[in-house]
Amino acid sequence: MSANRGQWSSRIGFIFAAAGSAIGLGNIWRFPYVVGENGGAAFVILYLGFVALIGLPYMFGELALGRVAQRNPVGSIDAIKPRSRWRWAGILGVLTGVGILSFYGVIAGWTVGYIHKMLTNNPGGFEQFVADPWASLFLYALFTLLTISIVYNGIEGGIERWAKILMPILFVLLIILIIYSNSLSGSGGGLSFYLNPDFSKITGSTVLAALGQAFFSLSLGMGLMITYGSYLSKQENLVTSGIYIGIFDTMIAFMAGLIIFPAIFAIKGNMEAIDASLRSGPGLIFKVFPEIFSQMPGGIFVGVLFFILLSVAALTSTISLLEVEVAYLIDEKGARRKTIVWAAAAVTFFVGIPSAVSQGGSDFFTNFGLIPERFAGPDFLSQMSFIFGDLALALGAFLLSIFIGWVWGADKAADEIARNSPFFAKTRSVWMFMIRYFIPLVIFLILLNVFGIFN
Ligand code: TRP
Repeated sequence: MSANRGQWSSRIGFIFAAAGSAIGLGNIWRFPYVVGENGGAAFVILYLGFVALIGLPYMFGELALGRVAQRNPVGSIDAIKPRSRWRWAGILGVLTGVGILSFYGVIAGWTVGYIHKMLTNNPGGFEQFVADPWASLFLYALFTLLTISIVYNGIEGGIERWAKILMPILFVLLIILIIYSNSLSGSGGGLSFYLNPDFSKITGSTVLAALGQAFFSLSLGMGLMITYGSYLSKQENLVTSGIYIGIFDTMIAFMAGLIIFPAIFAIKGNMEAIDASLRSGPGLIFKVFPEIFSQMPGGIFVGVLFFILLSVAALTSTISLLEVEVAYLIDEKGARRKTIVWAAAAVTFFVGIPSAVSQGGSDFFTNFGLIPERFAGPDFLSQMSFIFGDLALALGAFLLSIFIGWVWGADKAADEIARNSPFFAKTRSVWMFMIRYFIPLVIFLILLNVFGIFN
C-alpha cells in the first residue's frame, strides 16, 4: 500500500467527513420540499424506513469494499477481481463524480452569490442573476477554488480538519435558524403542514422517489463510500459509524424542514400562496426565501446566515466529489495529490461551463433539450442533474450491489463488516440476503422509476 494515501486520524473525523459529504443541497432544499409535496410525516416515515433498511446496509457494503482494498472505486474492484469488466462499474462511479460535481458546483456558486446579494440588500432578480454568464462562471470558479484548497491538503490535514470545523458551524446555524423561524407569528401552520401525515399522497412513484432521494442524500451509488472507506483503519466499527452518518444526514434534512415551512407560513399563510412554479427546483430557496427574509425583522441578517449554511453544506459535499477523482488518479495513475487536484478540478470546471451558462446565459445551452422534456428540463444543468444525479447513481448502485453480493461474495463482504462489530455478527445472514437479492431488486425499481415507468 502506498504510504502517501493518508488515513482518517480519528473516528469522529471520519464520521464528520462522511456526514459532510452526505449533508448537502439535497438535504436543505430538496428533502423538505419533497416531504411537503408527498404527504408530510407519512413520507418521512417511509424515508426513514428506506434509509435504515436499504441505504445503510448498502453503505456498509461500499465502506467494506473500500476498506478491504484500500483503494479508489476502480482500484478496489480491480483488487477483488483483477482485469475484469467490472472495473467499468468503478469508472462509471468516477465519471459520475465528475458529472455531479460539474452542475452541483454551479448551484453551490449561486449560494455564495446569494450571501453577497443578501449582504447588499438585493434579494430579488434570481432570473437575471443566473442568466449573467460571467457572474455564474466567476462564482463557480470561486467555489471550485475553495474546494481545491481543502482537498489539496489531503485526508487528515484537509478534508478531516475542515469537516471538524464546518460541521459544527452548520449545526449551530441550523439551530439558530430553527429558533428564529418558529418564533415568527403564524409559523405554527408550517409545522403542521410539514408534520401531519397524509397517507393518501403515498403512491408507487412516491415510494420510489423516497428511495432515490435516500441514495442521493447518503452519497451512495458512485463509490464515494468506497473511497472514504479506503482511508479507514481495520479497527473501526463500520456498522456504528455508518449508523451515525445515516442519523446525522436524516436529522439535518429533517431540521431543514423545520426552518423552511414555518418561515413560509409566517409570511405567506399557506403553501398555495406561493406560485406553483416556485415551489420546487432552485426556485424555493433562491426566489421565495430571499423575499421572505426581506420582509422579516432582522431578515437580511438571517438571510445571510441561511446562505452561509447552504454554502457550508455544499462545500463538504463538493470536497467529497472531488476526492473520488483525485483518489483514482493518485492510486491508479501514480499522480501526486498537490498537482492532480488542480488538473482534476480544472477538467471538472470545464465540464461544468455549459451548466453555468444554461440558465439564460447561452441560448444553445439553455434550450439544449437532448433528453426529452418528461425526464428533465431542457437546460443543460437539469439534463446533467438527470443523467448523473438520478440515472448514473441508480445504475452505479445496482452494479456495485451485485459486485459486492455476488462477485466479491456476500460472505467475504460480511466478514469485513463484522470486524469489531459484535452486533453485526448476529444479523449477518440477514445482511447477506439483503445485499444479494433485496437491495439489487429495489435499486432496479428505482432505475425504472428514473424513466418514469411508475408515473
Ligand atoms: N449527498 C449530497 C447531497 O445531499 C450530494 C453528494 C455529495 C453526493 N457526494 C455525493 C451524491 C456522492 C451522490 C454521491 O447534497
